[in-house]
Amino acid sequence: MARHLITSALPYINGIKHLGNMVGSMLPADVYARYLRQRGHDVLYICATDEHGTPAELAAKEQGIPVAEFCAQAHDAQKAIYDGFSLAFDHFGRSSSRQNHEITQEIARELKANGFIEERAIRQVYSNADGRFLPDRYIIGTCPHCGYDKARGDQCENCTRVLDPTDLIEPRSAISGSADLEIRETKHLFLLQSALAGEVEAWVDERADDWPVLASSIARKWLTEGLHDRAITRDLDWGVPVPADTWPDLAAEGKVFYVWFDAPIEYIGSTKEWAEQDPEHRDWRSWWWESDADVRYTQFMGKDNVPFHSVMFPATLLGTRAPWKKVDVIKAFNWLNYYGGKFSTSQRRGVFTHDALEILPADYWRYFMMANAPESDDSSFTWEHFTATVNKDLADTLGNFVNRVLSFSRKRFGDDVPQGGEPGPAEAKLGAEIARLLAEYEEQMEAIQFRKAAAALRALWSAGNSYLEEKAPWLEIKTDKDGAALTLRTAMNLIHLYAVVSEPFIPTTAKTMRSAFDLADDTAVWVTPEEANSLTAVPAGTPFTVPPVLFAKLTDDDLAAYKERFGGEPA
Ligand code: 2FM
Ligand code: ZN
Repeated sequence: MARHLITSALPYINGIKHLGNMVGSMLPADVYARYLRQRGHDVLYICATDEHGTPAELAAKEQGIPVAEFCAQAHDAQKAIYDGFSLAFDHFGRSSSRQNHEITQEIARELKANGFIEERAIRQVYSNADGRFLPDRYIIGTCPHCGYDKARGDQCENCTRVLDPTDLIEPRSAISGSADLEIRETKHLFLLQSALAGEVEAWVDERADDWPVLASSIARKWLTEGLHDRAITRDLDWGVPVPADTWPDLAAEGKVFYVWFDAPIEYIGSTKEWAEQDPEHRDWRSWWWESDADVRYTQFMGKDNVPFHSVMFPATLLGTRAPWKKVDVIKAFNWLNYYGGKFSTSQRRGVFTHDALEILPADYWRYFMMANAPESDDSSFTWEHFTATVNKDLADTLGNFVNRVLSFSRKRFGDDVPQGGEPGPAEAKLGAEIARLLAEYEEQMEAIQFRKAAAALRALWSAGNSYLEEKAPWLEIKTDKDGAALTLRTAMNLIHLYAVVSEPFIPTTAKTMRSAFDLADDTAVWVTPEEANSLTAVPAGTPFTVPPVLFAKLTDDDLAAYKERFGGEPA
């Protein structure tokens, strides 16, 4: 048994997430965490909402409510959806928590004490009407490249060009609309990443070979471009304040840390939130202190987040000179596209998580997304592919097998698992096949290769179907009642095995399958191939019930309705 710390990239507080966000962070982390828990490991799966920064302030302003209230509501709304997807976090925290404030400030003080944070004066836009400095995003004006008149000071939404606020024609404040702006000098904190570059490089070199290649290649590419010093403070009301005991001037000006400084620290902050909820969790630092080297830390994220996690966050932690636990494995994902184009939150293109749950239960989505996870390349969501996969893998191969076996057995042998004769060559062949596939499944899960793991799982389901076709108990029963009973008892043991090993992907259905058998609470403890084959998990005489159809078959009408509602054709 080992200790596994798992985190998934923190979803931004504003906006409901689409399936592309889900498949690149929280869902795979949950599948992995569930698998490790089943294998008996001590797992801590931590996530949170990423709440600071300008988008939250602006969204709250738009709704006319205080930003704290906006975030509290949005956090609860997101949490409800993740519960709907059966994401079994140990804790789903908030980066605006007191705990994160404390740890972020503690880390900043340590960085300063070690000479890695420096105050520097920069020239920045000040709004006289608003009485404050404006972050780049808070300045709007006309784009010098395309003429779009609502371009932001950091980027033009229309032509996507990266901008500097001074590029804008007729700049004005996004808060008040005032054009009474001037450039003033102001101080900010800079993280001296250049001074940590060598250490970070050595740190990456030491471990990135063990990471799936997407993450290691991005980390290396980022390092070759060089680590530059970065401003880590902003002029905002909403954020972790710069601590007054260490930087009284900046604190007096109301500076807060930049959202990307405090967001990864919230992995630690959220752990502390978790710890403070229950006296039994008090020992939270043992998850985060490198001297407790038995913890293996795996992070899940989309590829755009890799530079922050592989280089900048490690630089921050290294610079504290405290033994903070750093990531062991980064598992990154490419993009999930929608009909070959981008999912887009701002254009509401694609499938959003709340809509997905409204039309079908979570397990349909969980299986489809993981079986098609964008691991080696971007992958594309289409309704055709989705409905075909659900029908073939979930409804036919798994669901139909379960219902067919249980209904037929009940009809011919009553409500208990029948005894039947001794296993013969067909069972031996099946056993060898199951052992081989289960080993393959375990190997892929350990390697965090979800597509391959899902393929092995699907092959396990198929092996049951092949066995059933070969033995054909519905014919066998006419000439050999004991033989048919053995076939059914074997198939029921397979159902139990499927219930256990499918749990990471389809937890709700797995539970339904398991509870078809009236067994002592064996829950989802892992099975060895030998156990699966000895037909002891579900012994003869075990009472069982026939669950309702596990997965509904999706019709052509369903497909047409989804495409109509969500828009299907390529962009
Ligand atoms: O890209 C994003 O969605 C960010 N909110 C991820 C933050 S991950 C961590 F560092 F907090
Ligand atoms: Zn433009």
